[in-house]
Amino acid sequence: MSAPAIERILFTAEQIEQRIREVGAEISAKYAGRELKLIGVLKGSVFFLTALARELTVPVKVDFLAVAQFANQKGAPGMVRLAKDLDDSIEGEDVVLVEDIVDTGFTTRYLFQHLAAREPNSLAICTLLDRTPRRIVQVPIAFRCFEIPDRFVVGFGLDYKQLYRNLKYVATLNVGGTGLTGEDA
Ligand code: IMP
Ligand code: MG
Repeated sequence: MSAPAIERILFTAEQIEQRIREVGAEISAKYAGRELKLIGVLKGSVFFLTALARELTVPVKVDFLAVAQFANQKGAPGMVRLAKDLDDSIEGEDVVLVEDIVDTGFTTRYLFQHLAAREPNSLAICTLLDRTPRRIVQVPIAFRCFEIPDRFVVGFGLDYKQLYRNLKYVATLNVGGTGLTGEDA
């Protein structure tokens, strides 16, 4: 079966590049004189994390974890489990959790709590996309590139059934009633 069609480009490659440069400068200024650990969430945030890391002027380390989201028996979202943990300790480090999108907030809140328990020196959230209309649980977002409307999007790391992650732009997709929760992150 063929994948659903791209509907509308929300952010072009140039707009994303420009915005990541701005947010990169913001983060570099905030963490000036310190060393930063960027933590990416496989697989969606890898594309954003690498683009962001290249814009940072402070020394950077990277690490990754993976989560799986699933619905409960009634179909409500919000269940998250860790599929892959970090390789290294973050104790005493300045950590930025890098997300592709904060949607309901369940995934980010779970990860934020998981990382906070490891006693970093500081912990902040940076997301490429923020879709506030669907937020169910609040999370403190320190750095965001773009806010988006309540539409399913793909590209720049975001997938539909693992496809479209490699698009240079972010676009809406015609997915009908598919729902917004992916099989993985
Ligand atoms: P949450 O609802 O904030 O927990 O987001 C869960 C995850 O769902 C995100 O990390 C993405 O992997 C995925 N996701 C949410 N919205 C979209 C979308 O519009 N396109 C692709 N993946 C999405
Ligand atoms: Mg996904």
